[in-house]
Amino acid sequence: MNKRKLWPLLSLLVIVSMLAVACGGEEATATPKPEPTEAPAATAAPPTGGELEIFSWWTAGGEADGLNAMYGIYSGKYPDVEIINATVAGGAGSNAQAVLATRMQAGDPPDSFQVHAGHELIDSWVVADKMEPVTSIFEENDWLDSYPPGVIDVLSYDGDIWSVPVNIHRSNVLWYNKAVFADNGLTAPTTFDEFFAVADALQGAGVTPLALGDNGIWAATHLFESVLLGSMGPEAYRGLWDGSTDWNGAEVNSALETYTQMMEYVNEDHAALSWDQAAQLVADGDAAMTIMGDWAEGYFKSIGMTPDVEFGYVPSPGTAGTFIMLSDSFGLPKGAPDRDNAVAWLTVCGSKEGQDAFNPLKGSIPARTDGDRSLYDAYLQSAMDDFSSNEIAPSLAHGAAASTGWVTAFNDVMTLFVADLDVDSAQEGMAQACADAGVCE
Ligand code: GAL
Repeated sequence: MNKRKLWPLLSLLVIVSMLAVACGGEEATATPKPEPTEAPAATAAPPTGGELEIFSWWTAGGEADGLNAMYGIYSGKYPDVEIINATVAGGAGSNAQAVLATRMQAGDPPDSFQVHAGHELIDSWVVADKMEPVTSIFEENDWLDSYPPGVIDVLSYDGDIWSVPVNIHRSNVLWYNKAVFADNGLTAPTTFDEFFAVADALQGAGVTPLALGDNGIWAATHLFESVLLGSMGPEAYRGLWDGSTDWNGAEVNSALETYTQMMEYVNEDHAALSWDQAAQLVADGDAAMTIMGDWAEGYFKSIGMTPDVEFGYVPSPGTAGTFIMLSDSFGLPKGAPDRDNAVAWLTVCGSKEGQDAFNPLKGSIPARTDGDRSLYDAYLQSAMDDFSSNEIAPSLAHGAAASTGWVTAFNDVMTLFVADLDVDSAQEGMAQACADAGVCE
């Protein structure tokens, strides 16, 4: 079996080993920890000056604040290094990833870049031989026991670890404006039936029920992954990414029908708005709900809102008990112009200090297992609890479940579907995307 074929299997093992952690299992039951690397050591001399160019798409409230907090730690340690904050706006890397690909192809890598753990990291960059392993950074900092084995697994390939994770995000969250719900005597919906009942009531009261900002089509894919999970449950959902669940089957069809119905309750200008502009509609009470990853939590807090006071949160309809996860990480590209400075950056990213500064602002939980819980708000504490007790499923929209090529093909199907709401042709397109990715027949 070649390694590409092995990857879907590995994803499954990750879930199994994450569950082992969740259930209090001591060890990585599924995959061994990587052997010490024979690749060049990632160690470096401590930075004494020069530049550090960090590439990401974190420009919105919350995400930019978290990044700045990590820059603050770095600058405190290495005041003579000039940080170049190379951001390309557009949620989920919708614009940044193309810019990064062009730079990497031209042999002009940044010193370090944001990359989703899982297929995005491995299939796009590691297999293509564009990265240096970071295993030795983990070893030198004694981090191998500081991360859940399942997280280490999604960063690993060929016996090495290939990036440093900064967080765990949850994708399947419904955020709502508490005042709007209270004013209309409503409670947060937990099933699709409840969702549509609440949506009808809100529409009757003149409030847009569901805010969507899919000027980057990934946000439509993001909503749809929640609907898929809510329609079929975690086992079938996970099977979508390894070919064991049929894309032509009744469950995918029903998810597409549900999505079509949901679009009747969405703001008319959704195609013109970004994810954070959609969140702002909820903040302003112009819309009541949005289904978005928990970077929306970081956004709400950045504009002065407090969880459980101004905004509430529940798992998206039908998904209680499952945590759709994704993880942001930073890697070390081959040929990084300021390699020593980059290694020091990765050391900040993977440290407890770095993660406990970054995540409370970002709206994510630390990838490390030893984060200081008291620094995290009520929502984030609930996310920590859910991550350690729920079923875990990988996010499609954010690089965990499928290769970048598959995600791009899926996004193309969603572009058409959101415009024409043609369920049959969308289903055909999704089945084709799976086949083109080499995962389905
Ligand atoms: C995701 C990323 C998050 C957040 C979000 C919106 O892909 O993992 O950290 O930045 O996009 O920009």
